[in-house]
Amino acid sequence: MRKGKPSITARKVALSIVTLGAKAGMDRVLPRGIVQATERLLVASGVVGARTVRWARSQRAVAIYEAFDSILPGQFEAFAHRKALCERQVRDALDLGTTQVLVLGAGYDTLGWRLAPEFPDVNFFEIDHPATARLKAKGIAAMGERDNLCLIAEDLGKRNLVDVLKNSVSWDQKARTIIVAEGLVMYLPADAVQGLFRQCAVVTGVGSRIAFSYIPAGTDGRPDVGRWSGLMLWGQKMIGEPWLWSIRPEELDAFLQPLGWTNAPTLAGTTVKHGVEFYVVATKDNSRDE
Ligand SMILES: C[S@@+](CC[C@H](N)C(=O)[O-])C[C@H]1O[C@@H](n2cnc3c(N)ncnc32)[C@H](O)[C@@H]1O
Repeated sequence: MRKGKPSITARKVALSIVTLGAKAGMDRVLPRGIVQATERLLVASGVVGARTVRWARSQRAVAIYEAFDSILPGQFEAFAHRKALCERQVRDALDLGTTQVLVLGAGYDTLGWRLAPEFPDVNFFEIDHPATARLKAKGIAAMGERDNLCLIAEDLGKRNLVDVLKNSVSWDQKARTIIVAEGLVMYLPADAVQGLFRQCAVVTGVGSRIAFSYIPAGTDGRPDVGRWSGLMLWGQKMIGEPWLWSIRPEELDAFLQPLGWTNAPTLAGTTVKHGVEFYVVATKDNSRDE
């Protein structure tokens, strides 16, 4: 991450959501209200101006994003599927009695802001790198803060999740929780990813779940997004948000198990690859709480 600068990739995902709102048929995939909320957040936070948002809504923007699919096949629409899967997992978890939602590497995601009033008895938390989290907080303050949404500014590559949440008075370690980490783990070093999953199990109660996305590793152990992988790895490094972590899909179960999580491929919509990422939902190994 560029020192003290807000995330470029978070801005890219948010602008893609706005553009997907202008693409025919995507309204059937995108969660309700996400496009309008994202547009408001981008402008209210000062991430981009109203003109850029208007441009992002244009058919020209749709065509440009679609052209980039020749480098990352399917990745444009994949952002809509990723948002849909995460929201579905959160709603399913809330139906099952989950009382806490934690979004890691939240960027300009609007799930917490949109769902907080609908679920007043649930506590929503978000964590992101300070430079991005501060901008987001400015936007949320302008759009209307939610009593049950807590925005936390921390570097998860440097600070332990357990310590971060200890400072948050409303966090309940025993509560059934759904954690969302979309488009995050590829940006963390391997030891931080391991530590994060382990700590996610420590800070959550029985019946908790985690929904996340990851880029698969190729035979050389590096992130594999197809024939343009080398170019993408270089480009990500150039913008100061290098891809650091990936894993082979067949190694995922063995990776998660000792960290307290069980891959749950039978949960709706999981183990699907959209664009360059796999989507996963894992359930917490409850034996550790007994
Ligand atoms: C690709 S963006 C995804 C944003 C959001 N999850 C979404 O899908 O809309 C990656 C996000 O991870 C955050 N991130 C990367 N490294 C981080 C770290 N060490 N600590 C906290 N957040 C981090 C970035 O600031 C950015 O918001």
